[in-house]
Amino acid sequence: LNYNVGRERRYILEVLFNGLRRLEYRGYDSSGIAIDSDLAFFKKQINGGGGAARGEDSSWPSPSGSAPPLVFRQEGKIESLVSSVYTEVDEMDLNLEESFNVHAGIAHTRWATHGVPAPRNSHPQSSGEWNEFLVVHNGIITNYEVLKETLTRHGFTFESETDTEVIPKLAKFVYDKAREGDQTVTFAQVVTEVMRQLEGAYALIFKSSHYPNELVACKRGSTLILGVKELTDNKNRRALFHDVKSLTKNGQPKELFFSSDLCAIVEHTKNYLALEDNEVVHIKDGCVSILKFDYGKEKPASVQRALSVLEMEVEQIKKGHYDHFMQKEIHEQPHSLTTTMRGRLKDHGVLLGGLKEHMKTIRHSRRIVLIGCGTSYNAALAVRPFLEELSSIPVTMELASDLLDRQGPIYREDTAVFVSQSGETADTLLALDYALENGAMCVGITNTVGSTLARKTHCGVHVNAGCEIGVASTKAYTSQIVAMAMMALAIGDDRISTKARRESIIYGLSDLPNKVREVLKLDSEMKALAESLIDAQSLLVFGRGYNYATALEGALKVKEVALMHSEGMLAGEMKHGPLALVDETLPIIVIATHDACFSKQQSVIQQLHARKGRLIVMCSKGASSSVCPSEFCRAIEVPQVIDCLQPVVNIIPLQLLAYHLTVLRGFDVDQPRNLAKSVTTQ
Ligand code: G6P
Repeated sequence: LNYNVGRERRYILEVLFNGLRRLEYRGYDSSGIAIDSDLAFFKKQINGGGGAARGEDSSWPSPSGSAPPLVFRQEGKIESLVSSVYTEVDEMDLNLEESFNVHAGIAHTRWATHGVPAPRNSHPQSSGEWNEFLVVHNGIITNYEVLKETLTRHGFTFESETDTEVIPKLAKFVYDKAREGDQTVTFAQVVTEVMRQLEGAYALIFKSSHYPNELVACKRGSTLILGVKELTDNKNRRALFHDVKSLTKNGQPKELFFSSDLCAIVEHTKNYLALEDNEVVHIKDGCVSILKFDYGKEKPASVQRALSVLEMEVEQIKKGHYDHFMQKEIHEQPHSLTTTMRGRLKDHGVLLGGLKEHMKTIRHSRRIVLIGCGTSYNAALAVRPFLEELSSIPVTMELASDLLDRQGPIYREDTAVFVSQSGETADTLLALDYALENGAMCVGITNTVGSTLARKTHCGVHVNAGCEIGVASTKAYTSQIVAMAMMALAIGDDRISTKARRESIIYGLSDLPNKVREVLKLDSEMKALAESLIDAQSLLVFGRGYNYATALEGALKVKEVALMHSEGMLAGEMKHGPLALVDETLPIIVIATHDACFSKQQSVIQQLHARKGRLIVMCSKGASSSVCPSEFCRAIEVPQVIDCLQPVVNIIPLQLLAYHLTVLRGFDVDQPRNLAKSVTTQ
């Protein structure tokens, strides 16, 4: 929303499109946008549209006299929305140079849950004819069927299969009822009344022609960020934006942004506020007021919140000289690992401010449970062996959805560690709620400052890998391992018997970025390997011990981006089934770098060789001649590091392999088919 600053329609469109581009990694099957029309244009359209001339005396119901907003929705990627908007605007003869002193636009990119990707299911969803109320929504409305039934009984007709459509319709219903009773009702009142009826998780932005130049946003469960950009050289700038309260007092030109992710805001401003659950933000006349919704109270209370300053550079969300974000993020790892460790490694220990106060409770827990989904689960699995070793506390693993399905036991004496790059994965957050209800100490490991996970856990470690855009997680994976390695060191810090081991891990950590830089030199070798595997139907990856997680994660990367069937397997289980698959055609990667499991992996290699397996062996530098059983076996030699940190090095050639395979097979690297980066629904 721009206030007191002239912005042309083209500029407004571009700001919204760019915001969508920044968020495209979260959803990319359809998108939509709503901007203002103007009354003269509207009348011309209607009168020239062949129907009855409606003009000022028309049935258009806005008491404010403003024209209904224009809504454009399109299936597919953002760029198809962009081109269709410009084509339509051109056909309509809508002036792109028209300037608005105040303008409120909204846009959304979708990853389908309810309803196939199609324009009618894209957001903004509308209250009906004239777009009186428009809504964009992240999350899920669980009672939408009941609401739909009630609204249908009141004469509303639905055009989409989404859960979201009930929201704008409900807003219109609330608004009409208030108007019938001749009451004046504010936009925020309409929205709080709507919230009262909604169940589920959501971040919502409302736009309405009844309240031109206003926006209302609210949230429960899903993340919503407000960004504030001041546009004057006011000397009191710092004081002005110290808290939101000050925003209500001045008429300075400004631009205000709502987003589900800081990535879409960072190029405009670093002043932001992460909204809390049940907060409702009303922007009117350039002023921001925040209300706290409470079911028990008829009137929400007004709240004051301080703005934070974002520590993120705009370069982080750009591709630079790379072709894809995944490629950039793989090559960024020496740097991202350094930032994860910055200021935290000391000669004889680690400093993790976020855990300090709760360390005693963690050390006294009867069990540590590591919980996550996808790559984050794999990162936790990679850390499990040495977390057990250094803490002497039993460590168990839980996939968040499975813990919820089973309602598995979580006790007060447990420390539950939640691992999530985005900090917004629905399954992980629900498992967190469950662990909190059961009284466990909850620790968060997340790459997203201000995320729901960061806010809801008792304490935690920020991963600090920088913004990750590629849907397939790469740098966040290695940084999560390192963040948890530091957590393991901190927990074990009071034990004299493991002091020497801890010191060698600390040394290993400090040297890790160099080793990662070295392993990245395998890029062209991995490209050549990808060329040889381009037509393979399937790929198996065998690992064990510290590198069981590497096998799972390597296979996941190949599966999710290269769209090739791939399985990571525990090598110890090979004889119990997978061996039946082995023949001359199926490529098999065996991870056999030097550690306590090395000799066992050597015998796995021999057994696979005896069955004419198509072998690719990952081994420590210089070991290929002794590890490879024949000249037909391909080797990937990686630099050796301390055993427990070897997974950080070993995953990198597999990330590169997945990347090159994807490019060679002609698939979309950063936005793989059917996947979303943050799965915010169950
Ligand atoms: C989705 C993504 C995966 C990710 C997983 C967990 O499935 O596609 O790449 O590993 O969610 O995400 P989180 O943000 O919780 O780490």
